[in-house]
Amino acid sequence: MTTLREYLDSAGCEPALSDLIVLISAQAAPIRDAFISNQSYAGTENSSGEEQAALDVWSDEHITKILEDSGLVKELASEEKPDILKFPGATENYAVVMDPLDGSSLIQVNLCVGTIVGIYDNGDALSKGEDLRAAMYMLYGPMTVLTITVGKGVFTFAMDETGEYRMLDGPVKMPEGKIYGSGGLNKDWTEKHRNFIESIEKEGGKLRYSGSFVADFHQILKYGGVYCYPATIDNNTGKLRLAFEANPIGFIAKQAGGAISDGHTSLLEIKPEKPHHKTPIYVGSSGLIKRLEEIYRE
Ligand code: AHG
Ligand code: MN
Ligand code: MN
Ligand code: MN
Repeated sequence: MTTLREYLDSAGCEPALSDLIVLISAQAAPIRDAFISNQSYAGTENSSGEEQAALDVWSDEHITKILEDSGLVKELASEEKPDILKFPGATENYAVVMDPLDGSSLIQVNLCVGTIVGIYDNGDALSKGEDLRAAMYMLYGPMTVLTITVGKGVFTFAMDETGEYRMLDGPVKMPEGKIYGSGGLNKDWTEKHRNFIESIEKEGGKLRYSGSFVADFHQILKYGGVYCYPATIDNNTGKLRLAFEANPIGFIAKQAGGAISDGHTSLLEIKPEKPHHKTPIYVGSSGLIKRLEEIYRE
């Protein structure tokens, strides 16, 4: 089975980008190993006002040191940092955006969580998602699975017993489908959001919502459907962050034939105003996103 490095070389990746992707994706192993000794909460909050899990902090600090020591990264935006961190000694022009641990509320109940990473080659972590050079996520489930795109389709790899990533599937095409999940309390949904959800339920939609964006998206990538974290009647920005959640996942979705929107426009066309810029998010099969935007235009 093709290794990650073999795939990246065949996709024509510049060597420094291949090195960076191999380096970051390899951190899935130490992050998995860190679960057992990072079950608690750190007693601190991040800039999104969320209580930080110990593993949020550990993963953030671990990957940050790896990136700094690599000399490949000029700046880093992370969910667990208030501002962009600059690495003055970098010899390359990559900017990284990351959610080091997505699905933090699931750490203590041993459900699937992940790490989301986007890589820009223009040195600017607050670029539009459409300008990403590469996007990937590691999903910590029964297997450790890496889902990645370098702009030439989406490929999945599983980490084998030696720590090597072996290709599972690709190019992955997101089908139309009926899996749906939505954040926000049902009682607080807007009429348009409710209309959208009901239109899926009427067709026999399957509710799948775990509390981890990465895990829920991975299922939609395979089976088709939509993940929603909408604006609600009392919160018009939603919960997820544009720079390090929506953009990398949206870039992957688009590369697989899906789409990402806030109901009005593709989120990949919106420039993040700050690292913790929050946005309503709908990501999934292109037919459902098209329907969503029609409902929002009514
Ligand atoms: P994170 O753990 O990185 O803060 O992300 C959590 C996000 C997303 O992964 C998940 O789908 C959503 O928050 C769950 O939010 P609710 O608990 O409000 O449903
Ligand atoms: Mn969080
Ligand atoms: Mn997250
Ligand atoms: Mn997170």
